[in-house]
Amino acid sequence: AHEPLVLGIETSCDETGVGIVRGRTLLANAIASSMDEHARFGGVIPEVAARAHLEAMTPTIERALADAEVSLADLDAIAVTCGPGLAGALMVGVAAAKALAVSLDVPLYAVNHLVGHVGADLLQGDGLRGAVGEVGELELPTIALLVSGGHTSLLLVRDLVSDVELLGETIDDAAGEAFDKVARLLGLPYPGGPHIDRVAADGNPAAIRFPRGLSLPKDLAKHRYDFSFSGLKTSVARWVEKRVAAGEEVPVADVAASFREAVADVLLTKAIAACRDHGVPRLLLGGGVVANARVRELAQQRADAAGVALRVPPLSLCTDNGAMIASLGAQLVAAGHAPSTLDFGADSSLPV
Ligand code: KG4
Ligand code: ZN
Repeated sequence: AHEPLVLGIETSCDETGVGIVRGRTLLANAIASSMDEHARFGGVIPEVAARAHLEAMTPTIERALADAEVSLADLDAIAVTCGPGLAGALMVGVAAAKALAVSLDVPLYAVNHLVGHVGADLLQGDGLRGAVGEVGELELPTIALLVSGGHTSLLLVRDLVSDVELLGETIDDAAGEAFDKVARLLGLPYPGGPHIDRVAADGNPAAIRFPRGLSLPKDLAKHRYDFSFSGLKTSVARWVEKRVAAGEEVPVADVAASFREAVADVLLTKAIAACRDHGVPRLLLGGGVVANARVRELAQQRADAAGVALRVPPLSLCTDNGAMIASLGAQLVAAGHAPSTLDFGADSSLPV
């Protein structure tokens, strides 16, 4: 059968992603990032991100087409992230996708960013290295733990197209955001996640017992699968302030290692609990924080101990990208799903 050639556009945060797939085969995954422009502010500035998407959109589309060795006229469908994410940033991608779909007269599929992260795990092709588990062998149902600078969510995915349930999410900061904020107070550059990870390698993760948010019995009753990282960040800040006030040196490596341990522990405790509670022996990871060495290590340990099969797509498909959106679009086409009508807009808090 003819596999649909789908171009996917992702602009929910600071990455302009344009991917092209044929069915489940990855053909191109072009990315432009405005991260450098946000660095001096210590966080993503929505207005700056939106403007950067506008500038990067056409060149990134052109690069993806060149990488895939296809032309616009070959495309069978367009898919685009319509939420959740930064409203202004999303709007640029949505507008570009509508313009393409109308001018090419092909169907347009508006998709959810979080479900897109799961769709990434379907992709196969050359150059997909560094995955845990066989590339492209997504099995359902699965629990998905999606952790980045913008989201921290636990999903139960029974069917990618028709049955995705949000089990829990962060009630305040995203985990990546916590990494970035703690890095800042330790004097490390932005984005802080990779720097904390590096510094933590020389520290003692048991040096300081930082709190695991929403893990007390009273919290678990209502927030069994939800996360909270703002208390953890405050706790690290207080701990560091006390040392500084006492004129003592801050053991940066121990703080970083102990903080990283607290984040990894709470993420995996809740993810594995979701697998157990729902009788789902599969866990899929996605999002930029999946780069974290301790998160990966603990995920493997806890999954092995619980008899859960762990899957982690290659990092280029874990961070925000257009290929995952194209992949989900191809699934919608294959499922015979009706395309979106042109009256949809960006929805910064789109539910799954
Ligand atoms: O998925 P991603 O690229 O997209 C956005 O959310 O924009 O994730 C970026 C986030 C940042 O907060 C960054 O600090 C974090 O992922 N991150 C890490 C690591 N690498 C990136 N956090 C912890 N450890 C890492 N090695
Ligand atoms: Zn994401």
